Amino acid sequence: MIDLNSLLACPRCDNPLTDFRCVACQVDFPVRGGVPWLFAEPGAAMSEWHNRWQLALANLEQERKRVTAALKKHSDTQASVRLELLQHGYAEQKKCLAKLLEPLARHAPADLETYLALKTRPPTQQGLFTYAANLHRDWCWGEAENQSALVAVSSLLKETRPEKILVLGAGAGRLAYDLHQSLENAITVALDFNPLLVYAATHIVKGETVIMWEFPLAPRRAEDVALERSLSAPKPVRDGFYYILADALRAPFKAAQFDVVITPWFVDIVEESPAKLIPRINRLLDVGGIWINYGSLAFNQSDPADRLSLQEFITLSSTCGFTNIVSSEAAVPYMNCPNSRHGRIEEVVTIKAVKQSDVPQSRRHEALPDWIVGGKQPVPLTQSFQSQASVTRIHAFIMSLIDGKRTIKDMADVLEQQKLMQKQEAISAIRGFLITMFEEEGSGRGY
Ligand SMILES: C[S@@+](CC[C@H](N)C(=O)[O-])C[C@H]1O[C@@H](n2cnc3c(N)ncnc32)[C@H](O)[C@@H]1O
Repeated sequence: MIDLNSLLACPRCDNPLTDFRCVACQVDFPVRGGVPWLFAEPGAAMSEWHNRWQLALANLEQERKRVTAALKKHSDTQASVRLELLQHGYAEQKKCLAKLLEPLARHAPADLETYLALKTRPPTQQGLFTYAANLHRDWCWGEAENQSALVAVSSLLKETRPEKILVLGAGAGRLAYDLHQSLENAITVALDFNPLLVYAATHIVKGETVIMWEFPLAPRRAEDVALERSLSAPKPVRDGFYYILADALRAPFKAAQFDVVITPWFVDIVEESPAKLIPRINRLLDVGGIWINYGSLAFNQSDPADRLSLQEFITLSSTCGFTNIVSSEAAVPYMNCPNSRHGRIEEVVTIKAVKQSDVPQSRRHEALPDWIVGGKQPVPLTQSFQSQASVTRIHAFIMSLIDGKRTIKDMADVLEQQKLMQKQEAISAIRGFLITMFEEEGSGRGY
């Protein structure tokens, strides 16, 4: 039996952890709802996800109210069936989320505006719901898709008898679970930083049923707009399976602990360049250990040079301490929810590589700078903060002129009197700003 604790190192300083405590950094990593939070600044990570959770709840409530208002107008039309179901689905989803993410509850919730104003990063980029559909695919309707992932990955492990497997960006966890159930390894660690996926999966793999609502992108019928899903696993997971909440770019493990690392649908969605990420994967593996990458290669990185072709990816891997690299490609159905007209076929790449040697690591990944996370250093007056402050002042000034009486021309007069802009220029600028505000008011969907 291998204990999770024996593998762990501090994500801040790399010293071994004892009972989720780093003696050198004097940091205790909390265990909430049975899952350890192993982020470099666990308190900051928890606040961030707490805020995103509250924002998601507030958004759901706002959306529910919008549907209720529409229902009042269309109560005797065909639309009412759909709207009633949506209204019910949003209300129920709120309850499901409140229960599931209970381990995050700490603070009294603020109002929607406060969360919108204070968000540190746009919640839509890596929000709680970004991969919520994976929960439904993994644990409800996606048997064929789940099987094809399992076959692709497990066929590459046939001649090996791995003991310690790590899945980075494990998401809703089905692949990690299926591998653990079908192999005889001692320990599988599933790592992800999204608490919605992690807490749902933690209950599910234990053999519990989790209720969540699915809102398909392109519902086939009116009844498909909101679906109550019972998410469950075929069997409770056998011993040795662990979920942890952590940043894969600062994975909280001692070096060379694993004999298999799997990155399913992961390397192309992280913000870090492959040139930095691959050495981090290398570090986690023992020499002779196997890295399996499975999924799309649709790199999302901001630098075009980092959006690698398959050939470049293989070449880079070989310069990052990997050898015997083999790859294959197959067209597979992806996220084909049976109640949705939306779904796609993806050309999926499977790459297997064997670690030959260690390679130098790049600097420790910083999710957020210390002056944000710790809050003890001065906030730097950067160029972008200065210009953002002026923009915000102008926006606030325009908003303060909205009193239910002034026209755009009246407002432009004030801007001209204040010597901020000439009247004609001000008219088109105010109009542009108001169009954005008006359109944003009607666009807060996403469930
Ligand atoms: C495209 S999803 C794939 C999920 C899962 N592997 C699958 O195949 O269904 C990417 C996953 O990576 C997670 N993720 C992204 N960046 C991460 C990071 N820096 N640390 C940990 N998890 C991360 C997301 O939360 C999400 O669950």
